[in-house]
Amino acid sequence: MPLDRRQFILSSSAAAGLVAFPGFLTAGIDAASRPLNILVLGGTGFLGPHTVEYALARGHKITLFNRGRTNKDLFPELPKIVGDRDPDKGKGLTGLQGKQWDAVIDTSGYVPRLVEASSRLLAPNVKQYLFVSTICQYDNWAEGGTNGTENRPPATLEDPKTEDVRQHYCALKAYCEKAAEKSMPGRVTQIRPGLIVGPRDKTDRFTYWPVRFNRGGKILLPGKPDDVTQFIDVRDLAKFMIHTLEKNLTGSFNLVQPTMPFGKLVESCKKVAAPKSEYTWVPADFLSQNDVQPWRDIHMWADKESAGAGALTWSSQKAIDAGLTFTPIDKTVEDTLAWFQSLPAKRQEKLRAGMSLEKESKVLNAWSLEKNKMA
Ligand SMILES: NC(=O)c1ccc[n+]([C@@H]2O[C@H](COP(=O)([O-])OP(=O)(O)OC[C@H]3O[C@@H](n4cnc5c(N)ncnc54)[C@H](OP(=O)(O)O)[C@@H]3O)[C@@H](O)[C@H]2O)c1
Repeated sequence: MPLDRRQFILSSSAAAGLVAFPGFLTAGIDAASRPLNILVLGGTGFLGPHTVEYALARGHKITLFNRGRTNKDLFPELPKIVGDRDPDKGKGLTGLQGKQWDAVIDTSGYVPRLVEASSRLLAPNVKQYLFVSTICQYDNWAEGGTNGTENRPPATLEDPKTEDVRQHYCALKAYCEKAAEKSMPGRVTQIRPGLIVGPRDKTDRFTYWPVRFNRGGKILLPGKPDDVTQFIDVRDLAKFMIHTLEKNLTGSFNLVQPTMPFGKLVESCKKVAAPKSEYTWVPADFLSQNDVQPWRDIHMWADKESAGAGALTWSSQKAIDAGLTFTPIDKTVEDTLAWFQSLPAKRQEKLRAGMSLEKESKVLNAWSLEKNKMA
């Protein structure tokens, strides 16, 4: 990339607060052979900024459409259309009428009625619609992942008209995919990510691990090293999404790293983030007897023998064959920790996921007593 363009991105990103975390800006990115005109429905939360940042680095033009509420100071240099995905609210989608783009990236669709509204309105004026769905849109997603491919059937709902996203997030995404496909047959890219991790992830589900290791002390590790984890670095996802637009790839793609032993994530956290600490693997059944539950107290981990392990064993082979690449785990850990440490002190005080230090310590003490009894 010519220096003046990189400087522009660096300075505009600095204005937007983006250099506070390591994203794509540190990598050498070549411009795409043909710049695209891309509309992003959303763009200012977690996945959106990484996608926009990467697209800009590739030389594409971006327009943002959102309500102007989330991180509204991001990307001051970009054209913005203010509106609502819901045609019944405020200006609705009117700002999009009659305008043309090469492609749309929809990171913010959760309700089929709204995805239908945007895809129907944009169908005559865009070539490709990229919808960010989820890996859990499959039927029996959590049970039947083992090397699951895109051919598995989608989840269904008794009442497909429901808009209760909290209750039916996964199945509603399946219906959103169908709504986009109905409006633009053969022109939709359905992106189905697993857990998205990395800088800017406000859930702290993955972030917990590098941060916990970095804090040191007596650290509880769940189950055993060959239990499983699976996720996708947000930057790999963003890169692949732009790749599908550049190559006009349509159809559905699972987006996850290959299933990894949980011990590999542990080793990476030790290497990258940890002062000298004491580590104790606590068996899964003891955790459950002591009210420690996966996805409430412990994230990113599944006991290999449990039914929940299927959720972390999906296959992205189709996307890999189409060009998906993976950031090394050490870099994901390192950049996530660096990003978290760049946040205001108040935000760093309490992680939003994982066990409290008090509960961790209580369970470790209980396990120590149990082991003494067994000895
Ligand atoms: N996190 C995970 O592990 C995970 C896993 C699988 C799939 N996914 C999917 O990945 C996507 C990630 O989303 P993200 O939040 O990171 O995307 P994002 O594009 O970075 O942020 C969401 C954007 O949507 C806009 N928005 C929200 N409601 C809106 C409305 N009613 N009308 C117009 N704009 C609206 C927000 O801006 P305003 O508030 O200003 O409107 C914001 O710009 C989601 O589709 C999610 O389902 C996530």
